[in-house]
Amino acid sequence: MTGGARAGLEHAQQPLEHSRAEQPLESLSEVARDPRVDDRARENLEQVTAALSVDLAWLSSELADACDRGPSPAAESAAHLVNAGGKRVRPVAVLLSASAANGLSGDRAARARSVALAAELIHSATLLHDDVIDDSRERRGRETSRVVWGNAVSVLAGDLLLTHALEVVHPLDGADGRILGDLLATLRKMVEGEIVQLRGRASLDLSELTYERVVQGKTASLFAWACRSGARAALADERVAAALGAYGAHVGVAFQIVDDLLDFVGDPKRTGKALLGDVKEGKPTLPLLRAVARDPSILERVRRLRNGEADEALAAEIAAAIVASGACDEVRARALGESNRALAALEGVPRGPAREALARVARDLAARIA
Ligand code: IPE
Ligand code: IPE
Ligand code: MG
Ligand code: MG
Repeated sequence: MTGGARAGLEHAQQPLEHSRAEQPLESLSEVARDPRVDDRARENLEQVTAALSVDLAWLSSELADACDRGPSPAAESAAHLVNAGGKRVRPVAVLLSASAANGLSGDRAARARSVALAAELIHSATLLHDDVIDDSRERRGRETSRVVWGNAVSVLAGDLLLTHALEVVHPLDGADGRILGDLLATLRKMVEGEIVQLRGRASLDLSELTYERVVQGKTASLFAWACRSGARAALADERVAAALGAYGAHVGVAFQIVDDLLDFVGDPKRTGKALLGDVKEGKPTLPLLRAVARDPSILERVRRLRNGEADEALAAEIAAAIVASGACDEVRARALGESNRALAALEGVPRGPAREALARVARDLAARIA
């Protein structure tokens, strides 16, 4: 973050009661209803990221060091993913949460940075593992680590980064023991989410309840931890930390729903991922299960795809049928609903530029088209 930007965020910290009285939350919710989003969303997110550029440069260098600390070839495998960039949404969420909750200065800033680093390390570890689980070939515009180094090395590279994340969080225990305990519970939820998803894939379980459980576990729980721990790193009031945790959970659900949508309608040049990966895996995502409810013939085609050889034409036919079913609009509306819930949760957070930036993040992640 530039000195000016940080000063701006610092300056903005206000007592909770004071801020609630001053600004009605409606102004935040209005933002999510703005129809001129989409392409502007990307620009807005880039602006928020630019405001944190010093922190994010530090983060990139720490991530590179974390890879270097491991033995070859896991080090190179991890670096292949980490040095390819990524949106860094979770560290941004941590830093903004810390700033919004109680300001970023001195020890609080250092602790928030550690939480930001841990969040991105955990995310990176799960991506390395996820690409093995999903047989993915492309990530961040590159061949996946598993394609270059193989599944075994990729799994170990993920373990390396996960271990590093725990080492980064462990010393924070002195300041606030809840951060590590909360992380352990979060990791369990993430793993369980992936397991339930795998089970659902095998049985093509299309219940929306199962989908919710998967998304809460594999994605929302880390966003929630990131925001809650950012607040705790800043030694914020526990009610504010809880509000930010709720915000993170809703943003995480919206984020995953949009990611699932982008499997059908995204631009691979912008997402850095190949289209139709989920369909080919028979992954029960929300667009698929809503589409099957509207057009049951899609299910039979998905079964055929899953049981046969890789069939690009059939995958494309299924994707077209899902789009034609109108399910995508329904799913986007659902993502916007989650984004609005995230905005409502910000009511419990002190008003100021950092809270405004969090509101932008919630709105723009739900609106992004790539
Ligand atoms: C991908 O996360 C995995 C999901 C939870 C959808 P991101 O979309 O944040 O991936 P990067 O870090 O930007 O590559
Ligand atoms: C997100 O699920 C995986 C994690 C939370 C680790 P996806 O499988 O949809 O993520 P992408 O699409 O591969 O990035
Ligand atoms: Mg995947
Ligand atoms: Mg995906």
